[in-house]
Amino acid sequence: MNFDINQIIRTNIKNLKPYSSARDEFKGEASVYLDANENAFGSPHPQAFHRYPDPMQYAVKMRLSEIKGVPARNIFLGNGSDEAIDVLFRSFCEPGIDNVIIVPPTYGMYEVSANINNIALKKVPLTAAYQLNLEGIAEAIDKNTKLIFICSPNNPTGNSINREDIETILTNFSGIVIIDEAYINYSRQKTFIQELTEYANLVILQTLSKAWGLAGLRVGMAFASEEIIEVFNRVKPPYNINEASQTLALEALQNTEQVNEWIKQTLIERDNLVVNVKKFDFVLDIYPSDANFILVKTTDANSIYKFLVEKGIIVRNRTNVELCEGCLRITVGTPTENEILINTLKSFKG
Ligand SMILES: Cc1ncc(COP(=O)(O)O)c(C=O)c1O
Repeated sequence: MNFDINQIIRTNIKNLKPYSSARDEFKGEASVYLDANENAFGSPHPQAFHRYPDPMQYAVKMRLSEIKGVPARNIFLGNGSDEAIDVLFRSFCEPGIDNVIIVPPTYGMYEVSANINNIALKKVPLTAAYQLNLEGIAEAIDKNTKLIFICSPNNPTGNSINREDIETILTNFSGIVIIDEAYINYSRQKTFIQELTEYANLVILQTLSKAWGLAGLRVGMAFASEEIIEVFNRVKPPYNINEASQTLALEALQNTEQVNEWIKQTLIERDNLVVNVKKFDFVLDIYPSDANFILVKTTDANSIYKFLVEKGIIVRNRTNVELCEGCLRITVGTPTENEILINTLKSFKG
């Protein structure tokens, strides 16, 4: 692999003079701040929100660096990992010219973000076993292919993608390979973070929205080489993570024990859910999951979905998604929620 960031960065981004905020220009401590046109008197909220937040989220990154074992300079924070996905397109893909590869069924935002940015999409479906079609991917790559998105564990199928297959792509593709590890905390597979030093073209996405239980704060992470992170930082809005999210995320990131406990409970509940859901005669298959949800193949996903909605239970109907015909995606809930689901399904007449 001969990865050269200068070959793939968009020309306008390469030449961009990024916005320089007041907080970028003065980084030290001062007693009087009259540089950013804030309301110097304070904010109507008891917490002081009248100052702009740290544009580079240094404190949060330092804590993440401890947890993840990766230097802060290799971390980018986005307003959810959805922002990191968008920043990837805006940094590397020339609208109307470049293309990216996705491997459906997979997370829907890659396609939406491509469409928003007017970037052509090449779809190379997963195999029947929900693994990569390496030959198909190799054939789909052309000189304008900039990004390949791989989600592992994959949403909505729940399985992890074979590590050696991902490594094959990392080795042979001269664009950027994104591994979306939103569900990695639930997986038997280990993260690719340790491989960052080996692959210059690797971007790993993770999020505080899943195992960390902070979906409402909108904090996502990208891990990559310093030169890729530097590009992201130039392209992102200056204050993309607000002060409340930074403060609360930093507080929450002290509580790893609680999160590890929830992960354990979720895995136990996932196993229970599989055992109980399997018993229904309208269930044809449950796919192995490395995530906090299961994909269930049924005889009639639309009717079951509608029935559950009427009972106030919402699952995700994936029956119209390629390779997911008849499938419902069910998030693992609390023991009580899972019990309500199972008891309700008992009264479904197929
Ligand atoms: C695979 C995957 N990536 C990313 C996201 C979005 O994460 P965030 O909340 O950090 O934007 C999701 C959310 O469902 C997801 O399933």
